[in-house]
Amino acid sequence: MRVFVTWRIPEIGIQLLRQHFDVTVYTGDEPLNGTALVNHLKGMAGVLAIFHNRFTADVIEQLTTVRVIANMAVGYDNIDVATATRKGICVTNTPGVLTEATADLTWALLLAVSRRIVEGHQIMATDNFPGWDPLYLLGAEIYGKTIGIVGMGRIGSAVARRASAWNMPILYTSRSPKPTIEQKLGARRVSLEELVHNADFISIHTPLTPETHHLFNTNIFRQMKPTAYLINTARGPIVDENALVTALRNHWIAGAALDVFENEPHPHPALKNFPNVVMTPHIGSATVETRNRMAELAAQNLIACLQGKQPPAIVNPEVLLNDNR
Ligand code: NAP
Ligand code: GLV
Repeated sequence: MRVFVTWRIPEIGIQLLRQHFDVTVYTGDEPLNGTALVNHLKGMAGVLAIFHNRFTADVIEQLTTVRVIANMAVGYDNIDVATATRKGICVTNTPGVLTEATADLTWALLLAVSRRIVEGHQIMATDNFPGWDPLYLLGAEIYGKTIGIVGMGRIGSAVARRASAWNMPILYTSRSPKPTIEQKLGARRVSLEELVHNADFISIHTPLTPETHHLFNTNIFRQMKPTAYLINTARGPIVDENALVTALRNHWIAGAALDVFENEPHPHPALKNFPNVVMTPHIGSATVETRNRMAELAAQNLIACLQGKQPPAIVNPEVLLNDNR
């Protein structure tokens, strides 16, 4: 069987696939989408993809041989799962293996924006440190402040665990209550409105879905404390970037730290000009160890699906139940 890998990935994933299949790795410079994606997948039994490949309904409808789309990401908002399921195509993802790395990056951003680390670095790098001053480059204290976690899933919980080291009261939203987290960390499930009214740091960890698209909009920014910071390491379109720029311009919030953007790879141009905005280029899971684990898990998922076995992580298990392969 032939399988296709849509981008360069850690070697461990390729080697694993090569033990079972004839593997082609895409070497172009632009992510494959639309007709180009369909053309490259002709004759392929499976595809290991990254989330820059958009498997729209239109693309999936044109796939005649593909039986599995193995996303090397936990988020799968780049794939029209309903269409894949209807066509009997397995969709898999890489949950769990990237949780701690992404929670660490969330905290790195939270600390960087509230303690003005990037501004400080720029001052030092340009030899502009005027000398210690009691009123110089003051940031916001973290210890004991309230954190609001929007989406208390795997990554949200890992962020919450770290917050307890800073003695932070934890508010959270999620579709279902999380009694274990409540018991262990004293977290309190509240409405989004209560969370945004009370939190000093708000960290987003929901998937991107029609319900969470632009969840953070003008209305929500108006309700945040003017001293509060927004951290987004989930997906860019959960935040309306135009509304965020307005909120920053009008000092409705104290700052923002972002790893993800509405129109990646380009942030809203105005975001580059705020000293109280810290941005990273979607590196939540970017550690050597985590990326290796993601490539390995994506490959394992693909192999299992093509062998008619239960993959370690499948988004649409109903495909396997109805599978007559
Ligand atoms: P997860 O375990 O599925 O957690 C998602 C949480 O969001 C769940 O608790 C879920 O609630 C909650 N949720 C879903 N819809 C919601 C809504 N409308 N309102 C409030 N909460 C809602 O996923 P995860 O592994 O933590 O990953 C979360 C997201 O992080 C991924 O989807 C991905 O987009 C992003 N991510 C980004 C990076 C990066 O590089 N920056 C890395 C990894 C992941 P229930 O538990 O009640 O269903
Ligand atoms: C990365 O953004 C992921 O969803 O794994």
